[in-house]
Amino acid sequence: MTCILLSGATGFVGGATARRLLEDDRVDRLVLLARSSDNLKGRDRLLQSISRFGPVPERWRRVEVITGDLTTVALDRAVVDAVTHVIHAAACTSLRSVKRVRESNVAGTAAIADQLEEAPRLRRFLFVSTAYRCGITDARVVNEDTPAAPEHVAEYTRSKSRAEEDLLSRRSFPLLIARPSVVVGHSRLGVKPSASMFWYYRALAEAGVSPFAPDKRRDIVPVDHVADALVFLTFSPSPRHRCYHVSAGARSSVRWGDIEAGFASCGLASTRRQSVDPSTLATHPALEAIAASDRNFRAGVEACARFSGLPIEWFANERLVAEGMPPPPPFTDYLRRCIESSSRSVLEQMRDDA
Ligand SMILES: NC(=O)c1ccc[n+]([C@@H]2O[C@H](COP(=O)([O-])OP(=O)(O)OC[C@H]3O[C@@H](n4cnc5c(N)ncnc54)[C@H](OP(=O)(O)O)[C@@H]3O)[C@@H](O)[C@H]2O)c1
Repeated sequence: MTCILLSGATGFVGGATARRLLEDDRVDRLVLLARSSDNLKGRDRLLQSISRFGPVPERWRRVEVITGDLTTVALDRAVVDAVTHVIHAAACTSLRSVKRVRESNVAGTAAIADQLEEAPRLRRFLFVSTAYRCGITDARVVNEDTPAAPEHVAEYTRSKSRAEEDLLSRRSFPLLIARPSVVVGHSRLGVKPSASMFWYYRALAEAGVSPFAPDKRRDIVPVDHVADALVFLTFSPSPRHRCYHVSAGARSSVRWGDIEAGFASCGLASTRRQSVDPSTLATHPALEAIAASDRNFRAGVEACARFSGLPIEWFANERLVAEGMPPPPPFTDYLRRCIESSSRSVLEQMRDDA
């Protein structure tokens, strides 16, 4: 009897993963952990999130819901005894918060792991981390074994690195770590489920300013690829490694110039092309004009620009591909779908990251 516990399904990656699990015949029992004041409202939030990815399969009726915050929830003894696989995707993904990311990502992950450490049937605990857990680096290409630097551009990535360390220190814990790079859109649905991070690339193209040179590559993956990869790793019978990038890698990362050209072919790029220092990007007049000097927009661009200032072009994904996971499509293959799937303004799209 396969019993999966998934956290984070009201979010972008977790919602896509829940939807993917609902279609998987290997799953006998699915338990979702979500924040809510009561079970009914929790179910409702989850249903809304999963519906973003298309009609919800009939099996949804049998899904069990546990409500609570990662840091305080007490898992039922019956669930702990039954659970065979965990996908821990919940995290505070704010690029600006310090306290909340520490609480949810470090303390919250430890609290969940503490409760599952003695789970008698647990075969896999898949921790969804981030490829940027590497911190500030001068590498163009980052491998899974690249050590994490002490300095980070955001507390969020430091918190994920700390959570990884804590989990890795637990002996005989059946841990695997998945590290997605930057998740943008869905390869078939575009940005209908969420425009998370899409708004940033779109704003740069529309303003005609960018912190990347045109020949520099960006590592971007669609959410359906990430969901497939998480399920692939969850059920992988004998993974050869402990950590896996879920990324575009050398093959599917794309040049910024080609991304800009994709926006231009849909009439969404300025004719101007100006490279801008990441530290001054947020206050550039061309960007300010797009968002009418919206303060949240400026802060959002500022946070993203700090990552753009890193020299990383791609995260190696040979490990996952060598074990049989098909590589993701390049962003430019589904960029038009992203553009055409939403008529919202950049500012409205940015709210998906609020
Ligand atoms: N999106 C990316 O580009 C990307 C890239 C690399 C790695 N990742 C990783 O992928 C995972 C999912 O990211 P995402 O983009 O889907 O984020 P998201 O849309 O912000 O969703 C985060 C999820 O975590 C839940 N959560 C946060 N704090 C919680 C807490 N204290 N207790 C219980 N639940 C909590 C949220 O619940 P509420 O709905 O109640 O807030 C939500 O379901 C994260 O681990 C993230 O680090 C994402």
